Amino acid sequence: MTPHLDFSVNVDHVATLRNARGGSFPCPVEAARVVVDAGADGVTLHLREDRRHIRDRDVERVRAEIAAPLNFEMAATEEMVAFAERIRPPYCCLVPEKRAELTTEGGLDVLRASPFLAEAVQRLRAADVRVSIFIEADPAQIQAAAALGAQAIELHTGRYAEGPVEDRAAQLARLKSGVAAAKAAGLLVHAGHGLTYDTVGALAAWPDVTEVSIGHFLISQSVFEGLGATVRRFRAIMDAARNA
Ligand code: PXP
Repeated sequence: MTPHLDFSVNVDHVATLRNARGGSFPCPVEAARVVVDAGADGVTLHLREDRRHIRDRDVERVRAEIAAPLNFEMAATEEMVAFAERIRPPYCCLVPEKRAELTTEGGLDVLRASPFLAEAVQRLRAADVRVSIFIEADPAQIQAAAALGAQAIELHTGRYAEGPVEDRAAQLARLKSGVAAAKAAGLLVHAGHGLTYDTVGALAAWPDVTEVSIGHFLISQSVFEGLGATVRRFRAIMDAARNA
């Protein structure tokens, strides 16, 4: 039987809107409640070093108030590992972070990462956190993530989802080899970045992909369609692709 595809909704950009006016509205915790009620399996939050969207209190509140699992995205830094050890999210995804970037621009380079990455994986696992690393679909990166003790990888789908349409087939083929390499290495396979109604189905159709994480398009589209309706439409597209 095809395993369930977990759909984790990233609500960071609800906090971006809130912070634009410096008040408390719209509230990312309320958004988390709505997306879970609409069928999301989990909630993703990225606490960036510069706190440009999600803040510490948002993470604490989602962890305490939302029953669905929190997927906590973080850079492998002492500050973030200590934070995760305190709030103990069920899932963490380690991502690269550059202060000047608009969003997470590429996968984490596990091969050239500082030795602290290995310590971060070990400490998170010791705190009972399932650890994923956000990487490109490159066999050497996948092997390195497995060797560090990560239980999952999240494949960066940006080049597929945001690149030219005529390049999509080639990018999908690259992602598909990454999925096979990760499976062979005993890793769970997740996918995310830049996914939309048009691009999510191809990945949802692969039974070895067990989670997708979607944020910016979903929150943007909800301006026109409503947050719950947007989640439900994503869910329907993914279910149709997976069961086809
Ligand atoms: N997964 C990871 C690891 C991310 O860092 C992000 C945001 O960059 C996403 C998924 C979601 O990407 P998007 O907001 O483009 O849907």
